[in-house]
Amino acid sequence: MYFNLSEEQLMIRQAARDFAQTELKPGVIERDEHQKFPAEQIKKLGELGFLGMMVDPKYGGSGMDSISYVLVMEELSKIDASASVVVSVNNSLVCYGLEHFCNEEQKQKYLVPLAKGEKIGAFCLSEPEAGSDATSQHTTAIDMGDYYLLNGTKNWITNGGTASTYIVIAQTDASKKSHGINALIVEKGMEGFTVGPKENKLGIRGSDTHSLMFTDVKVPKENRIGEDGFGFKFAMKTLEGGRIGIASQALGIASGAYELALQYSKERKTFGKQLSEHQSIQFKLADMATEIEAARLLCLKAAWLKDNGQPYAQASSMAKLFASEVAMKTTVEAVQIHGGYGFVKEFHVERLMRDAKITQIYEGTSEIQKIVISREVLK
Ligand code: CAA
Repeated sequence: MYFNLSEEQLMIRQAARDFAQTELKPGVIERDEHQKFPAEQIKKLGELGFLGMMVDPKYGGSGMDSISYVLVMEELSKIDASASVVVSVNNSLVCYGLEHFCNEEQKQKYLVPLAKGEKIGAFCLSEPEAGSDATSQHTTAIDMGDYYLLNGTKNWITNGGTASTYIVIAQTDASKKSHGINALIVEKGMEGFTVGPKENKLGIRGSDTHSLMFTDVKVPKENRIGEDGFGFKFAMKTLEGGRIGIASQALGIASGAYELALQYSKERKTFGKQLSEHQSIQFKLADMATEIEAARLLCLKAAWLKDNGQPYAQASSMAKLFASEVAMKTTVEAVQIHGGYGFVKEFHVERLMRDAKITQIYEGTSEIQKIVISREVLK
């Protein structure tokens, strides 16, 4: 076993850390307050190559490994999870799927601008009545010969308003259940495609979450990803990697809150001594540090398996399940350590606490991760 990061990985982590401090931190409270999408910051992340991190350079990507992706997601998420979710979705749920399952023509047309960060993508699986139960798609894509006729509604779509390219999962033949589902590439501006209002959320308020409505949208046959009926497997394979991204986001939210609590405990005095001299605070910090380290190892293990061509579905679900619980627990404790200051916006930890919650919900709730893990261990 070799736990050291390479020179290149260390440089990539430092670049993300610097970016988070200089570009994301200023304005993060205001963006959260006013639900403002970090458009400028996302453009710069694209220029740094962080929106197509793992894509082959021949398709406009940066050719980095998944370990580097975990490092970048952790650093960005320490400061701004609304920005890091864009990085996660574009890399894992959009670019990965396009690179691994699309034909050459589709890659040139759709992957290249997304990997370069010139455009943003969205992954559209969840519906009003199909969030966790992903096989029960009500959105239909009826085969009309040259095109699919797309009808339905998608909910809680990250990048819903800002994306240009949408991967939409829809049912073509309900009698075939999961084998009758297709994944279609839909472009903004196609007739019959409308974007609903932005959701007013508890956390990751800067991110751009919308419902999407499709009414008789004609999607050309050449926009289908893979063979007819491949859509559900496509979504599941894509989510396996997506969960590494969200696990790393949860890790970053936890470590960001921990670092703030650690710093504060050395500055604030109560009962004549520093907070950090109270054993009750020391024990909290010890628990936080231990759990964060365990979450980090799970994220890196899942990324390592992916980079080495080994199965990683179980590892990515374990990382997401554990890291999101650590994020929730750590941020609550960080607010507690800050006392009254933790409850006001200027100290950042209340935002991290609100942001942590979504990591237990999107890309599969904690319960979904337990389904995936238990199926693997019971095989
Ligand atoms: N890879 C390949 N194939 C897979 C697979 C995988 N990881 N998982 C399942 N499949 C295949 C199965 O083998 C099966 O194929 P066969 O019929 O040929 O055997 C088929 O898909 C159906 O699988 P299941 O019977 O296991 O399906 P299920 O209905 O029991 O559901 C589930 C499985 C794991 C619960 C799945 O529905 C799931 O993951 N749900 C959660 C969806 C989710 O994560 N939603 C989040 C939305 S995206 C998001 O949040 C993005 C964002 O905004 C940030």
